[in-house]
Amino acid sequence: MSAPKKLYIKTYGCQMNVYDSERMVEALGGQGYVETQSPDDADMILLNTCHIREKAAEKVYSELGRYKGLKADNPDLKIGVAGCVAQAEGAEIMRRQPLVDLVVGPQSYHRLPAMEQTVRSGAKALDTDFPEDDKFDTLTTRSKAKRGPTAFLTVQEGCDKFCAFCVVPYTRGAEVSRPADRVLREARELVDAGVAEITLLGQNVNAYHGHDGGLAGLIRDLAGIDGLERIRFTTSHPNDMDDALIAAHGDCEKLMPYLHLPVQSGSDRILKAMNRKHTAESYLRLIERIRAARPDILLSGDFIVGFPGETEADFDDTMALIEAVEYGQAYSFKYSTRPGTPAAEKPQLPEDVVTDRLHRLQALLGTQQQAVQARMVGQEVGVLFEKPGREAGQMIGKSDHLHAVYAAAPAGVLGQVRRVRITRSSPNSLAGELIN
Ligand code: SAH
Ligand code: SF4
Ligand code: F3S
Repeated sequence: MSAPKKLYIKTYGCQMNVYDSERMVEALGGQGYVETQSPDDADMILLNTCHIREKAAEKVYSELGRYKGLKADNPDLKIGVAGCVAQAEGAEIMRRQPLVDLVVGPQSYHRLPAMEQTVRSGAKALDTDFPEDDKFDTLTTRSKAKRGPTAFLTVQEGCDKFCAFCVVPYTRGAEVSRPADRVLREARELVDAGVAEITLLGQNVNAYHGHDGGLAGLIRDLAGIDGLERIRFTTSHPNDMDDALIAAHGDCEKLMPYLHLPVQSGSDRILKAMNRKHTAESYLRLIERIRAARPDILLSGDFIVGFPGETEADFDDTMALIEAVEYGQAYSFKYSTRPGTPAAEKPQLPEDVVTDRLHRLQALLGTQQQAVQARMVGQEVGVLFEKPGREAGQMIGKSDHLHAVYAAAPAGVLGQVRRVRITRSSPNSLAGELIN
């Protein structure tokens, strides 16, 4: 048998890309590839890319430029671009960077094995279709190799919301849900391989309709799988947060008390210009209902600062909304113009104004995050231990509320959910003591 070929895959962007990268590795495994952690000894390099902001897309081209020397040393090296930049720019990528042999979009990577053969024959391969055949039908079973205790599982893809700033509806296509029986089968495969926590993924995961009971119905079925201890989901849209899902947060024990619910802005004028189809008030009401069902839920959000037309008063409304919610975690971005989106036509705000607002917003969010963490001190929480820490005898895991937690513990805790008393809060983690 010939030696296995080596695949180096670098992943940018959201968790859905992390999931897709795993599946690409598995798909190319059938072609005799094993994953390598370095581009230097690779026979194929794949960049799984993100197009959400300008900087994310530009990173891809600077990374490709670095591979010139490798390709000169090894003419058999094949270089591919996958993901959302591949979908958005297609053949343009090969024109701009002739080193690239292969371009494959997020909905057609199940065709990678055939594309690999094409590039091995010396031709270029391009596939950015939104094919009729479902890639998940081709990519049936998951690898049986032993896994770490946490895994992502994509259940929904695409977006029909068309927020005025966002490329996702163009790069990922229309909303599609995977049938519940397939999701359940994949979840069982993951649990058999050692997974204790599954995070269900979708660009709008709570718009999932592959189960009669929606996402809540799927979560309740998943909760019936022995050995699956924890369930999470991301990312949700406020308008798809239905009563059943809110109720599940109240009474489904395996569903963790953490919810990422992006709002983007607290100004109704800007929300309207963004085409978000909700108001600041309706978002706050929704949060009230969620907290009524699960009082200790940790809320996380996404914010865009400096959307075209944002005034100081609009920004104040965003700060007021943040004050009202109190987030435990948040992601905030300067607005980035994306070609082809409606907002790209609008006049931009001065950079210094946007930078100043981002700093103020991040300072407030940072203060809230620290306050939420500080309140955990003295509490007893569940921690799923994932890996050894840097200090001897120390293990690291994630709490129910998704905080990173360090504790002195034997290696036997790895892969288990154990009770821990939190003793200290540091900027990005908590320290605790094992109780049982
Ligand atoms: N589907 C999710 C998130 C998609 S993208 C949702 O609806 O919330 C993740 C985040 O990137 C968005 O929530 C938004 O805050 C940010 N984002 C998207 N497009 C952007 C742009 N053009 N400029 C800056 N941030 C952007
Ligand atoms: Fe983008 Fe809006 Fe869809 Fe989220 S809901 S992926 S921000 S268009
Ligand atoms: Fe980026 Fe595509 Fe995800 S644009 S955020 S990789 S859906």
